[in-house]
Amino acid sequence: MNDMTLTKEQREARLEGMGCKRKRVEDVRFTQGKGQYVDDIKMPGMLFGDFVRSPYAHARVKKIDASRALALPGVIAVLTAEDLKGVNLAWMPTLAGDVQMVLADGKVLYQNQEVAFVVAEDRYIADDALQLIDVEYEELPVLVDPFRSMDPDAPVLREDLAGKTTGAHGPRKHHNHIFTWDVGDKDLTDKAFREADVTIKELISYHRTHPSPLETCQCVAAMDKVKGELTLYGTFQAPHVIRTVASLLSTIPEHKIHVIAPDIGGGFGNKVGAYPGYICAIVASIVTGRPVKWVEDRMENLSTTSFARDYHMTTEIAARKDGTVTGLRVHVLADHGGFDACADPSKWPAGFFNIVTGSYDFPVAHLSVDGVYTNKAPGGVAYRCSFRVTEAAYCIERAMDILAQKLGMDPADLRMKNFIRRDQFPYQSALGWEYDSGDYHLAMQKAMDTLNYRALREEQKQKQEAFKRGETREIMGIGISFFTEIVGAGPSKNCDILGVAMFDSAEIRVHPTGSVISRMGTKSQGQGHETTWAQIIATEIGIPAENIMVEEGNTDTAPYGLGTYGSRSTPVAGAAIALAARKIRAKAQMIAAHMLEVSEYDLEWDVDGFQVKGNPQARKSMTEIAWAAYHAPPPGMEPGLEAVSYYDPPNMTYPFGAYFCVMDIDVDTGVARTRRFYALDDCGTRINPMIIEGQVHGGLTEAFAIAMGQEIRYDEAGNVMGASFMDFFLPTAVETPHWETDFTVTPSPHHPIGAKGVGESPNVGGVPAFSNAVNDAFAFLGSTHIQMPHDSWRLWKVAKELGATA
Ligand code: CDP
Repeated sequence: MNDMTLTKEQREARLEGMGCKRKRVEDVRFTQGKGQYVDDIKMPGMLFGDFVRSPYAHARVKKIDASRALALPGVIAVLTAEDLKGVNLAWMPTLAGDVQMVLADGKVLYQNQEVAFVVAEDRYIADDALQLIDVEYEELPVLVDPFRSMDPDAPVLREDLAGKTTGAHGPRKHHNHIFTWDVGDKDLTDKAFREADVTIKELISYHRTHPSPLETCQCVAAMDKVKGELTLYGTFQAPHVIRTVASLLSTIPEHKIHVIAPDIGGGFGNKVGAYPGYICAIVASIVTGRPVKWVEDRMENLSTTSFARDYHMTTEIAARKDGTVTGLRVHVLADHGGFDACADPSKWPAGFFNIVTGSYDFPVAHLSVDGVYTNKAPGGVAYRCSFRVTEAAYCIERAMDILAQKLGMDPADLRMKNFIRRDQFPYQSALGWEYDSGDYHLAMQKAMDTLNYRALREEQKQKQEAFKRGETREIMGIGISFFTEIVGAGPSKNCDILGVAMFDSAEIRVHPTGSVISRMGTKSQGQGHETTWAQIIATEIGIPAENIMVEEGNTDTAPYGLGTYGSRSTPVAGAAIALAARKIRAKAQMIAAHMLEVSEYDLEWDVDGFQVKGNPQARKSMTEIAWAAYHAPPPGMEPGLEAVSYYDPPNMTYPFGAYFCVMDIDVDTGVARTRRFYALDDCGTRINPMIIEGQVHGGLTEAFAIAMGQEIRYDEAGNVMGASFMDFFLPTAVETPHWETDFTVTPSPHHPIGAKGVGESPNVGGVPAFSNAVNDAFAFLGSTHIQMPHDSWRLWKVAKELGATA
């Protein structure tokens, strides 16, 4: 109603729009155990599927005998690659232009690879049946070291590619080579190195890890043979893409496939791709005519359903004596495992790794990436980052510290000297990106002032002296990371998935009473979209957020979108939401003009309605306008008040941040204690500061885990060494440090509300801060670079090698 008894501020506060620390509406059901996840779905006659998996990392599959399993009461079917061949589904395309076995076709390429799919009346029978399937393997030589993958005598992993000298991304130079990706100016970069006063070169590895969401990957496929319709419930970060892929593979028309992603318990990139479990559940449902559920267990998830990182980055910087950087040269050896199932936009075989020049004004740079096959699980997903941006940030932030060490310069001063200046934006990077906006000096200075950085350095100096005198066994490190991200994939000119441009969408319907239902092509997995999307709409159309319902994840009702990952939701869907809302506001203005009998140009927007310029008493609230839209629209105007927007962003957004970690390490035990962790983020306009803080806390906790212990390791036989939470470090509240958060605001100039993404930033910026703290602590003892992860065992060994402990 037209409640002018409230002040403007009160009316604004009532909206709970952008900038408000609105409580998360989805938490009402989550905190009461009322979330609806895939495993909550129970359908009449539902069957359960489970996989027979290979104990070997590389072996020929000679024979599969399922007769004993089929004799077990309750077992309905056992699928093998031979069965899938009948429907042309023994192999499936990957997002990276490769193909991947759905079930082992003649051989296996990594431990726990899917060999056969058992379908049974319940999960226990399926599990029992797995033990009754006899598979005869012939072991083959195993390749786990990516540095040996292109040796002349390295075993041939992909026999299906025999003789193929080109792949999806150009020429292949060896039977285990996937692609070479070259960016930048090699000649100019080589020249910069020839002319440099100082150079550094270091192999900086980012180990293999895993997103490990609490809910594993799962689905329920239900084929209605009468209607010829497939309903697929699943843990999908990109439901529309899954529907398109399912249609292309199954030849079921897209409109007869209903993909529904219900509540999702964390994704972090793990739930973007299509996995054999989805395909097998669909085929099993088509074959049996009954719904089939597939739910991975923890070990299956950690060992097979994608991985992250595994980049080995030989990094060189050329600089002048005064610390000015003059060139960057990086070569990456990328370990992709048995198939190239990297989840990147199609044209980018190494994602956006060419953001590796970071926050610094490198005049020239050259990057080359070689992707190789090994006997490890496929994947290469963007674990809470935008397509290989985490690897790039780690690479450059570690290298800048190494350069500072060589120059004898303070790492903060080196960064300040080389930052891209505020007046250089929009900034064209040497490796091809146009950074939209930033004020790096301001953010860095704020961080340094808040922490009293110079005093910390003084304290560190004193501690190093005390350590040398034998008065303490503790060393202190200060880790700095100043990262620039590239998020918001993305502009259709350079981003697509399997040919579908990476736009996103929003549909908003205002009902007669002024309540709203809105639907988006994104899918929250915990990021709080139901809360924040409503806040954008509230500010744009002046209807309180509590009257706005947000729905995602149902391909029957939501407009087509490319989903949620890589912090793309705010930069892309967030923009679509604002623009759809503005269409509604534009129509509302015409309706209000008719109601007030003035020209629409005589009206101005005021918080939650339109008023006549110079006569604010003459106004119509959005609630009144909504009623009029259905009751008495202006003559000639269609009734109703709704809009759809598909947004193709003109550019990515470039959030940034200054992170500092202060750490004490006991050299006799290797135990590292994070004394302070300060994270300043700039994600442009902030929609919900409380949600941003939550995103930062979560991402920092993952960064802490990755830097300080989390790893998917393999032994020489290709056995996965980190496939359970006994071995894979997932920090609890006990280990997790305290986080201090801060911000600056530099809006994106091309985004309708000036917002950039934020969800991935803490993972991207956090890992180098931790690792730099560890390296900074040990540097005075003579070390240059210590490989991650920095668990106590490894740190103790480093201390021992440096002669710091017995
Ligand atoms: O794509 P994803 O949702 O993972 O990442 P995001 O776009 O960075 O958004 C994560 C959460 O932070 C969402 O709920 C956003 O609305 C919120 N956010 C915000 O409040 N302000 C921003 N400038 C960016 C994100």
